[in-house]
Amino acid sequence: MAFNVAIDGPAGAGKSTIAKKLAKQMGFVYVDTGAMYRTIALRVLELGADGRDEAAVTEACKELDISIRYEKGEQQVYLNGENVTDRIRAEEVGMMASLVSSYAAVREKLTQLQQKMAEKQDVVMDGRDIGTAVLPRAQVKVYLTADAEVRAMRRYAELQARGEMCDMEAIKADILRRDSQDMNRAISPLKKAPDAIEVDCSHMTIDEVVSVVVKQIMLRRG
Ligand code: DC
Repeated sequence: MAFNVAIDGPAGAGKSTIAKKLAKQMGFVYVDTGAMYRTIALRVLELGADGRDEAAVTEACKELDISIRYEKGEQQVYLNGENVTDRIRAEEVGMMASLVSSYAAVREKLTQLQQKMAEKQDVVMDGRDIGTAVLPRAQVKVYLTADAEVRAMRRYAELQARGEMCDMEAIKADILRRDSQDMNRAISPLKKAPDAIEVDCSHMTIDEVVSVVVKQIMLRRG
């Protein structure tokens, strides 16, 4: 049976950084589920559809082909045959992803894809509902949090490093809005699974967090 590690938590807590490093260290496949929601969001933006219109988004989902490939060990996301890995990182796409991820058709489509990916291979999968809905039987579950202030600062540094114009207060407001949207939606809201360990990484280094998770994996593997 494949070994599954689920990492959930709010925007900007550092899930992808931790998950990527952990996967590399353990020889597992890293699956970034946020990237898949972002891809649907990008399609909605490209079509000029109204993200608040559930019927329009559901329709857009029908003729949409998302495929995940690994190139040099890095996850690449393809939307209808086009590599959109870089384009989906824009803030605008993240906000739209948070909105469209509340719809049943979107969640069903992506949950199936994610479950399939974790069936036959060892994965570290990060997102919002991995431990609660996608992989409820994951052997290790982590709920990664950090203060909103710290998360906003990390996001700011990340955007600056990419040369994107950004405003600290606007980033913090976006993060809080996204937290609220992700935690309060009706289907699979962001919450800690009862059997997840909670790690507040506000004052921890990346390596410290990774080693906490590695210990959990070792404990479960025996
Ligand atoms: O982790 P991220 O910022 O790339 O995710 C973008 C949005 O996608 C997030 O605000 C909510 C949604 N999402 C989700 O609903 N479920 C997941 N498993 C992953 C992301």
